[in-house]
Amino acid sequence: MASGDVKAQPTKATTTEEEEEETTISRRARHTIQKNDFLSTYASVALGNPFHPEDNPEGIINMGTALNHLMDEEMQARLQERDGLRYDRQFQHYYELSGTKHVRRSVADFLKRRFCPERNVDPENVVVLNGVASCLDALGHAICDPGDVLITPTPVYGRIFSNFRERALVDVRGLDTTEQTDAEGKSFSLRPDALERKIQELLGEGKRVKGIILVHPHNPMGDFYSKTLLLEILQVCKRYKLHVVVDEIYALSIFQDPETFVSTLALNSATPDPERVHFVWGLTKDLVLAGFRVGVVHSLNKDVITCLKRISTFQCTPSIIQNAAATIMNDKDWFDGFFLPTNRRKLGDAYRNTRQRLEEMGFQVREGKAGFFLWVSAKAFMKENTKEAELELFEAIFKKGVYIVPGSQLYCVSPGWFRLIFTIPPEKLEVGLAKIKSALDERRK
Ligand SMILES: Cc1ncc(COP(=O)(O)O)c(C=O)c1O
Repeated sequence: MASGDVKAQPTKATTTEEEEEETTISRRARHTIQKNDFLSTYASVALGNPFHPEDNPEGIINMGTALNHLMDEEMQARLQERDGLRYDRQFQHYYELSGTKHVRRSVADFLKRRFCPERNVDPENVVVLNGVASCLDALGHAICDPGDVLITPTPVYGRIFSNFRERALVDVRGLDTTEQTDAEGKSFSLRPDALERKIQELLGEGKRVKGIILVHPHNPMGDFYSKTLLLEILQVCKRYKLHVVVDEIYALSIFQDPETFVSTLALNSATPDPERVHFVWGLTKDLVLAGFRVGVVHSLNKDVITCLKRISTFQCTPSIIQNAAATIMNDKDWFDGFFLPTNRRKLGDAYRNTRQRLEEMGFQVREGKAGFFLWVSAKAFMKENTKEAELELFEAIFKKGVYIVPGSQLYCVSPGWFRLIFTIPPEKLEVGLAKIKSALDERRK
């Protein structure tokens, strides 16, 4: 497929009566397949036609899917050690699907070591499921009834909406933040009073507001919330008896000031309503193991944990993988002493290099400290300041063979923003940046 063949499709929101009568599937299924899922669609197109300098030079350079390839070799070498991806006959049989005792113990020790050294983590409060998306889906099932509302600050990783909506039928609503800078000069900042207004507005419309979802560190901003702001937000949520789901999937991929990051796990007794705060993490990003499908939920809410254990039958991580995950989490010397600092250094170098190159091209970059992405304004290259012009620029770059994500697909209300992944293999990054530059140069002409 040529790189220009996929178009950013508008979402078809309604089903006609004839379609409903014709259908062989549920309304829920129809709704799922009708919703345009930009990130998944383009991720599969890019996966199906990957760029290769000799074999497929017209293929797509994927600077849209948040993967970190900078540590592939280091992880491969560790897993290929004797105790890495080990086979044992017990893996052929049933096991504790929501995380074996050994694995939950390892996760609990790891979380204490890396997220909250001053607090003990009880393995009984931990559940392991097949990836973070799966954890979010399961939490949606556990804390919401169909039609209940969860609020999340936007722009945000677009599949946060689908993860809660597709199966748990949660009505996820965005709390728009904008490019306008606040008193501290920060754009896209979340304000507790704006959150409270949004809650009141939705309650006023008769909605059953059940909670909020935070991504911390944030995707696509690459920023994280301060402890003060986190506590203020948790206080607002407590006042309205709201759950707080905190997705910390990038917590160990912070390359700038990592010591200033405060996990919700580390808030301890300061947490205003502890039974309504649910922490989510996984191996996907911080251990570059997206293919392993290991996600973790920590919750002090016994009913939530019991429910997640019950439904883990449908979304469990195979025990052979759980076991390998435990081995690398338990290897303190290797992870803390080698993998984590090497990853931080490589992320920081790649971020600074890519940032400089994009700024030289004329992009405006919002400061990031974590994750695999740069959040950039490309207004300078747009004919007008609209979503249509943003998508037009996206198409021009995609036609050159580079996939980057337009902000509107991440629910950004300010047009002209894009998310670019800088953690692809360096040789591909070079070609990708050159192709983007050539797309922009052609527009300048
Ligand atoms: C914030 C966030 N949450 C969840 C996910 C999905 O993680 P997983 O592949 O473990 O389901 C991603 C992947 O990009 C993400 O960025």
